[in-house]
Amino acid sequence: MGTETERITVLGAGVMGHGIAQIAAAAGFDVVIRDISQEFIDKARNGIEGNLKRQVERGRMAEEDAKRVLEKISFTLDLKDAVREADIIIEAIPERLELKKRVWAEVSSHAREDTILATNTSSLSISEIAEAVARPERFVGMHFFNPPTIMRLVEVIPGQKTGRGTIDTIISVSERLGKTPVEVKRDVVGFIVNRILVTYLNEATKLLEIGNYSKEQIDGAMQHNAGMPLGPFMLSDLIGIDIVRHVLKVFEENLGPQYKPADSIENLFQEKNLGRKTGRGFYSYAERPSVTPQDGEGFDVDLLLNPFIAEAEKVVAEGIADEESVDTAVKLGGNIPKGPFEMKKERG
Ligand SMILES: NC(=O)c1ccc[n+]([C@@H]2O[C@H](COP(=O)([O-])OP(=O)(O)OC[C@H]3O[C@@H](n4cnc5c(N)ncnc54)[C@H](O)[C@@H]3O)[C@@H](O)[C@H]2O)c1
Repeated sequence: MGTETERITVLGAGVMGHGIAQIAAAAGFDVVIRDISQEFIDKARNGIEGNLKRQVERGRMAEEDAKRVLEKISFTLDLKDAVREADIIIEAIPERLELKKRVWAEVSSHAREDTILATNTSSLSISEIAEAVARPERFVGMHFFNPPTIMRLVEVIPGQKTGRGTIDTIISVSERLGKTPVEVKRDVVGFIVNRILVTYLNEATKLLEIGNYSKEQIDGAMQHNAGMPLGPFMLSDLIGIDIVRHVLKVFEENLGPQYKPADSIENLFQEKNLGRKTGRGFYSYAERPSVTPQDGEGFDVDLLLNPFIAEAEKVVAEGIADEESVDTAVKLGGNIPKGPFEMKKERG
């Protein structure tokens, strides 16, 4: 690129896009956000203003700095305007392959030749999306976690044709954004974190279905004796049953039948009990559920930590990442104090 990367364009001003834009502006980049209707743009602007206001109120940011961050961001509906001057384009539009390919083909025809093109996809193939652009060597996966203003991890994923320089640029931009980038070596569905965490949620559900343990018992033990921030069923409810199911469906298609969503996940999905956001999932959220260490008595956490570690070993065996990267990614992406290989070592 020759000069420093200074202009970032974010496509899609939704849950992920507005947060990515905010951290990029806070890191000093000039940012353009593009969405398809004014309504989404207004919502994103309000979201960013609200985030910044809270930071000022909590004394984490000076008022002038918050103002400066906002001034660094411009909003547009015009794709051509949005991408023409960009050094980096980060796409966070809905998770549909055909839509992403259509938008990327158009972006590619208006962007400069040396612009780095990054997609925030969670479950699609980077190589497949890259087919839409003229220079796939400049195309890469840049997977942020929700909310991007807080979560430190960024998984950086090459497609088959991604050049080394493209990966290095995204790693250094991630660092400038205050993130910890972890390089994923192969474009395999779920990358590192979702592959290990969502598979673990499915394994917990299958174990629940056998009927020897209650959900409170499993959640109580995993939260209080295994160091997980939440037990698997509360975590599934938090993520959203629809999202967990969707990810497992993609795994089932791409990795095999052992990843098929457990029946209870499928049933909750069909009943539209999607977790916290609908007020009911594995638990009812009429009152806030919680589990105590006593609830967890009688459940051996190894029953779930063993498959958790085994999935991490598969990720390494498949050449997706090394042990250290897996540990870093799972800790930061899952808010878990120890990575699977650290757990393995500790348990002997
Ligand atoms: N939500 C998460 O937890 C999460 C985490 C990591 C990655 N992701 C990925 O990030 C991407 C976006 O997810 P989200 O949750 O922010 O979705 P979202 O639905 O909140 O936002 C998507 C936005 O893109 C806009 N959009 C649609 N077509 C567009 C176009 N042609 N140009 C510009 N904008 C367009 C929509 O109007 C919407 O505002 C997806 O690929 C998703 O898989 C999501």
